[in-house]
Amino acid sequence: MCGIVGYCGPKKATGILLDGLKRLEYRGYDSAGIVVQKDGGLDGVKRTGKINDLRAIVPEAMTGNCGIGHTRWATHGGVTDLNAHPHFDSANRIAVVHNGIIENYTQLKAHLNAEGVVFRSETDSEVLPHLIAMYYEGDLEKAVRSALRRVKGTYGIAVIHADEPMRIVGARNGSPLVVGVGENEMLIASDVTAMIAHTKQVVYMEDGEIVSITPDGFTMTDIEDKKVNKQVDEITWDLGSIEKEGFACFMEKEIFEQPETIAQTLSGRIDAEYATGKLGGLNMSSRELLGVKRVKIVAAGTSWHAGLIGAHLIESIARIPANAEFSSELRYRNCVVESDTLYFAVTQSGETADTLYAMRELKRKGARVLGICNVVGSTIARESDGGAYTHAGPEIAVASTKAFTSQIAVFYTFALLMARMRDMSISSGFRYVKALQSVPEKVRETLTRRDEIQRIAKKYCHARDFLFLGRGLMYPVALEGALKLKEISYIHAEGYSAGEIKHGPIALINEETPSIFLVPADELREKVLSNMKEIKARNGPIIAFCTEGDEEVASIADEVVTIPRIDELFYPFLATVPLQLFAYFCALELGRDVDQPRNLAKSVTVE
Ligand code: M6R
Repeated sequence: MCGIVGYCGPKKATGILLDGLKRLEYRGYDSAGIVVQKDGGLDGVKRTGKINDLRAIVPEAMTGNCGIGHTRWATHGGVTDLNAHPHFDSANRIAVVHNGIIENYTQLKAHLNAEGVVFRSETDSEVLPHLIAMYYEGDLEKAVRSALRRVKGTYGIAVIHADEPMRIVGARNGSPLVVGVGENEMLIASDVTAMIAHTKQVVYMEDGEIVSITPDGFTMTDIEDKKVNKQVDEITWDLGSIEKEGFACFMEKEIFEQPETIAQTLSGRIDAEYATGKLGGLNMSSRELLGVKRVKIVAAGTSWHAGLIGAHLIESIARIPANAEFSSELRYRNCVVESDTLYFAVTQSGETADTLYAMRELKRKGARVLGICNVVGSTIARESDGGAYTHAGPEIAVASTKAFTSQIAVFYTFALLMARMRDMSISSGFRYVKALQSVPEKVRETLTRRDEIQRIAKKYCHARDFLFLGRGLMYPVALEGALKLKEISYIHAEGYSAGEIKHGPIALINEETPSIFLVPADELREKVLSNMKEIKARNGPIIAFCTEGDEEVASIADEVVTIPRIDELFYPFLATVPLQLFAYFCALELGRDVDQPRNLAKSVTVE
């Protein structure tokens, strides 16, 4: 969703802001703008379209050493140049960029209108510069603090004033903001990717904090103006992680990174001597883990699919009742919280509003909530009671791929840990560990099916609808395959339990509606074969993903992609990867913007 970047220091701000915004493109946006302090005033440009469109209209003369920039994803007000950020006060002395939603903007706007303020945009954000101007008496930080006391809603903001050269004031409440500490230069951004080219030293802001930055450093206070001491963290990954490095797009790169990212997730998390999982970050003793009677997982989108796999594993091998629920549902229902239930919030970004608020609601009721997050220092990672980072590295493509396989890798280690404390014998544990450790190599082998998958994608990508079908652990994989296809290729696709098609969806089957079957050599293979035959009998084209050497599947399906043989519990890794490739090649063939599909944002920080 929206992105913020700000810079003050000896270098020219314009290029740094535009490059920073370029790095934030992956979050999804529809318009962008920048503003710099120049000759005692403010000089800004903004427009709809891509960062390159913005770059094209930035005048050469627009130089300055301090400025702020923004990518907007429309919520209040259409996609227009005027609604793009920055927004200015009436005198054009104050500029604000804002992520989040000002909930009481109608009342604030009415009040400001009554004071004679004329609004230029339809956004909620524009109330901020006018409010700050109302309180401004020569101290920008003070004015921001006073203005924010009147604001209800969520925000991450960066503000500059023409009369306060080389100063940026930032504030956070519900929308992430990070301060970058450089040598005689400082940055502020909604996401570290926007500043990694300049510094790896960062300070994560908490809700309710206000920062004032100048090239010499920063001061952090709370809304009551009390000083807050902050620690400076070091980012552990480098610029290469957020560059395409020879791949056509980030999604392709991230799909092919999975042998390494899964290995990275598993690294240090398997105790080979006792054949169990090691997850120190859970912050729970063995006695506490033994007392867990139920596991509940909350998440959205792809992370929810990972949660479904996690719940299945935990219940089937650790024998602990487990389920996964949409965070957007849980946050608004009066859920029962029990003291012996362990909760997980699963999220790549660590900022998804639905998951964050579901977690807060659970914690308010006294639940212990663990986070499974990819982005280090993200809000959910910091507010959870413990958890595990997925360590998949930055995921830039909007469609989640490597984060998903790393999320499930965490669940495989957690399920093992819990199972080995209960029913699983050490010899079964050794078998499990051996299979789990073989996953990265088997994923690498699966990726060699690339050309075959591309051929099939080319042949079928003009279909209007697809069904993705699987059972057991393959059911969430089917949901994930369908989600991947629809989000990046815009082809309608439904994921279903293969056992459910006879209860309705089979009516959709005809010669033009392909069914993608996930039918590896697991305990439900025979059942899925029967479901395949039901489709075949109705002339539906079948693309099957099965274990290598499965001649029976090959004899029924129209197209077959084989995956390597592995212990049956571990097929979710090997079945997911070819579906990611299938979606990718369909989108490529159809000429879609693979990394930034229409209407989507990488991190969904609004409801
Ligand atoms: O950052 P999160 O994992 O919390 O994001 C959840 C969903 O928004 C996300 O998985 C979304 O469904 C992706 N576009 C899927 O590819």
